[in-house]
Amino acid sequence: MQLKHFLQFNDFCREEYEYLFERTRWIKQEFKQYRQYWPLSDRTLAMIFDKNSTRTRLSFEAGMHQLGGAAIYLSTRDTQLGRGEPVEDAARVISRMVDLIMIRTYEHDIIKRFAENSRVPIINGLTDEYHPCQIMSDIFTYIEYRGSIEGKTIAWIGDSNNMCNTWLQAAEIFNFKVQVSTPPGYDINPERIGLSGTTHYEKFANPHKAVIGADLVTTDVWTSMGFESEAEQRKNDFAEFCVDEEMMSLAKSNALFMHCLPAHRGEEVSTEVLDGPQSVVWDEAENRLHTQKALMEYLLLGKLDAGS
Ligand code: CP
Ligand code: NVA
Repeated sequence: MQLKHFLQFNDFCREEYEYLFERTRWIKQEFKQYRQYWPLSDRTLAMIFDKNSTRTRLSFEAGMHQLGGAAIYLSTRDTQLGRGEPVEDAARVISRMVDLIMIRTYEHDIIKRFAENSRVPIINGLTDEYHPCQIMSDIFTYIEYRGSIEGKTIAWIGDSNNMCNTWLQAAEIFNFKVQVSTPPGYDINPERIGLSGTTHYEKFANPHKAVIGADLVTTDVWTSMGFESEAEQRKNDFAEFCVDEEMMSLAKSNALFMHCLPAHRGEEVSTEVLDGPQSVVWDEAENRLHTQKALMEYLLLGKLDAGS
């Protein structure tokens, strides 16, 4: 089988996502029925964390266990990576001992170098630039609630971060539109994420304008991991970018609200919206588990027949 990595959202085509979502539905249903499904018995996943995590660690570790395999948690703090062992050497060694590797790190270049030296598939568990596993779960969640996302309008409010970049990549593949509103100085940079010619987004200086007509409103923390030194400045710069009930009322009446979590109530989202009737954040978080089980199965076993 050809070696395949999942480093950014556009590493897969639409047809592959349709397959993964089909598998996700089946895997989720089996899990909910307490039916054992162990296609990855004897397979091992290594998870390398350079940044904190709750959902990503848990969903990969539990997911691998539920598929019959094992997961090993490695942190740069207590491996030789934290003492300067080159990424290339670590990739060569780790990929001789396990079947699959998930990495959460800083610059995308690190994960690229890791993948170039790996014998096994690499999954991006978040970099400064992208968070593809999260967007896979978000789109799956949208489809569960509302059906196809094609032709829909997504409002992105806040920082032009890894989540925003990945939504923009997904818009190309699923053919939807992203209405982006970021504060001055925090503009999106489509060239940087290989989307110089994209027509799938529109920029709005005013966040209230960006949510008009939206089928889904989504946001994320004002300060992503790795940017903590800017946190105080960002609190000022993003003060007008809180998704609250007034802002939500400008979107379509059946609009959903998503947030990858962890959330800061009273900053990027109000308590009323996060805990309100339009919010689907808990399903969005749970679906990390099911979508990533389909992803790991696909990377290790390729396409399987339905219901097997
Ligand atoms: N959404 C997400 O990736 O959460 P964690 O940082 O907890 O993994
Ligand atoms: N944009 C956030 C997402 C956390 C899951 C970060 O990178 O910290």
